[in-house]
Formats: sequence, structure tokens, C-alpha cells
Amino acid sequence: MTKILYINSNPKAVDQSFGLQLGQHFLEEWLKNEPDAEVETVNLYKEDIPLIDEVVLSAWGKFAVQAELTAEEAAKVGRMNEILEQFLAADVYVFATPMWNLSYPPLLKAYIDNITIAGKTFKYTENGPQGLLKDKTVVHVQARGGIYSEGPAAQLEFTNNYLQSIMQFIGITDYHHLFVEGMAATPDRAEEILAAAKEKASELAAQLTTSAQLA
Ligand SMILES: Cc1cc2nc3c(=O)[nH]c(=O)nc-3n(C[C@H](O)[C@H](O)[C@H](O)COP(=O)(O)O)c2cc1C
Repeated sequence: MTKILYINSNPKAVDQSFGLQLGQHFLEEWLKNEPDAEVETVNLYKEDIPLIDEVVLSAWGKFAVQAELTAEEAAKVGRMNEILEQFLAADVYVFATPMWNLSYPPLLKAYIDNITIAGKTFKYTENGPQGLLKDKTVVHVQARGGIYSEGPAAQLEFTNNYLQSIMQFIGITDYHHLFVEGMAATPDRAEEILAAAKEKASELAAQLTTSAQLA
């Protein structure tokens, strides 16, 4: 049984968001193909996602010398550990992100900082850092008003490139993306663009559930 973690970094309601409609469609298609797959959602705008701040850095400094943490430090790194354990327990990660100002919502970066942890998801070796996660799959579902998958704005595409790079850094190479893009440029075609993206999402869900069954 596949455990899917749906990481939603969009504060909007689903019916107001192209990315969340696409993400939901992808999950529904996955469940059609694998009805007993388990989907857990992390709603970054509704949950406590600690930032790396003075308290966290102080706690990490104390780990190195085995010094005692303050109550505040213990609570914060405890919450970070919960987030990390939930991440480690999943097989498939579906990140739903909107493009905001050529980037993604800041809570997604905060989340990534909670799961990119030396000794847990990567380690330093003589040959440089090495990812520790094995047999995991990522699907990045992103809505963006302009078109970045081709054409002149392609060089401004940092979000998917970053997510793919950081996932690779922690060992995940089975990486897929689903974009719904260009709705701001051609608003009259928005529904058509979403419908085409949903078709791609159905195909990807079929492909990934088939390969999961063969594995
Ligand atoms: C704060 C903000 C910043 C945005 N910045 C960009 C941008 O840099 N490039 C772009 O193509 N669209 C940008 N957009 C448009 C969104 O990417 C677009 O509306 C997309 O559909 C949002 O995803 P959603 O529909 O899932 O919420 C921005 C929207 C907002 C609200």
C-alpha cells in the first residue's frame, strides 16, 4: 500500500486554485488505480511549520556538544522532528505549489528546511553530501500565470528547478512535474489549459501506479 503525503503550500480554497484542482485530480486518479493507497495532507498554511531561527540554531549547536536544551528549544526541535518523521514515513510526495513572484510561498521553504536534515535525509561524506532517501517518488504540481516550461520566460523558472535539486540532494531522483500554466496570459483559455493538465495528471497517475505495482 502506497503512502502519499500531499504537501499543500497554497492558502486558497481548492475551487479558487488551479494548482489545487490539479493536485486533487491527480490524487483522485491515483486512488482510482490504487484504492487502498493512503493519502495524508500537510496543509502548510494551517499547521505549525517552524522557521530555522535563533532558537533552532541554538538547539542544533547544543546537540553537537550534548548540552541540555531549554524548554523552548526542545519544543521547537521536537515539532521539527515530528514533521521529519511524517515525511520519512511516506513513499510518494505530492507538492502542490503556486508560483509567487518567480518563487513559491515561503512556508514551502520553511517546510523544506524541516526535512533537509543532516544525518536523517542526507549526510556529508568524503565525496561531498549524499542523499539518504531511497525508493521515494516526488510529483510537483504547480500553477503559474505565465508560461515557463518553454519560451522566453523559461530562464526564469527557479521553483521546479529548486524543488527537483533539493529532492535530489536528499536522494530522491524519481521526480515528476505537472504544470498548469499561462492562465494569466490567456484567461479565456484557462479552463481548457486546466483540462489538458488534468489529462496529463491522469496519465502520470496511471504510469506511477502501474510501476508501483510492478515493483
Ligand atoms: C503574490 C502572487 C505572485 C505571483 N507571481 C507570479 C509570477 O511570478 N509569475 C507568474 O507566472 N504568475 C504569478 N502569479 C500568478 C499565479 O501564479 C497564478 O494565479 C496561479 O494560478 C496561482 O496558483 P493557484 O491558481 O493554484 O492559486 C502570482 C500570483 C500571486 C497571488
